[in-house]
Amino acid sequence: MGTAKSFSVRRFSYRRIIEHWLYAAVFMALVITGLAQKFYFLDASKRLIMGLGGIDSVRLIHRLAGVLLIYLTAQNILAGLCGVMLKKWKPNMIIRKKDFTDAVEDLRYYFGATEAPASCGRYSYKQKFEYWGILTGAVLMMATGLVLWFPAFAASYLPGEVIPAAKALHSNHALLIFLIISVWHIYNSIFSPEVFPLDTSMITGYISRKRMVEEHPLELAEMEGAGESVHAGKNVPPFNPGSDETGMKTS
Ligand code: HEM
Repeated sequence: MGTAKSFSVRRFSYRRIIEHWLYAAVFMALVITGLAQKFYFLDASKRLIMGLGGIDSVRLIHRLAGVLLIYLTAQNILAGLCGVMLKKWKPNMIIRKKDFTDAVEDLRYYFGATEAPASCGRYSYKQKFEYWGILTGAVLMMATGLVLWFPAFAASYLPGEVIPAAKALHSNHALLIFLIISVWHIYNSIFSPEVFPLDTSMITGYISRKRMVEEHPLELAEMEGAGESVHAGKNVPPFNPGSDETGMKTS
């Protein structure tokens, strides 16, 4: 008889979990202190600014959180590159042709043209879209944030128009990122029928084997040594109790 844990699979290491929640905290601090400046005329912003000790401390908190965002993003990119180059991890986040065909296959499934959704590996095309959207968005926010922070330095190397352009980009992209995270990410981790009331994999590090079968069948098949023929709901290989602890690399 297997324990409850033996029916789940280790998906994320503690390092990844800590990194995720640090990123979330820094992101929230940036959104709150940034949007309070953008919408300074709203009562809620005024209360927040006064509560945090005035506009100077809000700007200071925003910049300090910005430095933390730069650190977290840089270490994520470096760790990913080193992990792949040292062959510790597979380059699972790289966008491949299969991601486009998976998206089409899923659309066909949603319209009732096929019986099963696309079979995904460690990260589905939706998860890759979200990761690269957030990463490129963070890089844009960091570049424009640094221009706003050091305008004289930026203007000594770049045309002066870069400063108002950086301001417009930073300010409007902030709203876009906030909407993407609050609609897309929160829906996928809380309200999506597959995970409701909460996807706990970023808290416990584990995901149920049932979800692996439905959402990451190719990775499960690889983990359990069953080749690449497993499809969601069909031809599911028997569970190997050792695989939840040792069977996968948690990148
Ligand atoms: C997801 C990340 C970020 C979000 C959502 C965000 C959001 C915002 C928003 C909404 C504003 C107000 C713009 C306006 O007045 O129209 C702002 C201003 C600013 N942000 Fe960011 N920001 C982010 C990252 C950063 C980073 C990484 C840095 C620096 C490295 C930075 C530095 C600044 C600076 C210097 C200002 C001008 C206000 C001031 O002088 O403090 N931001 N940010």
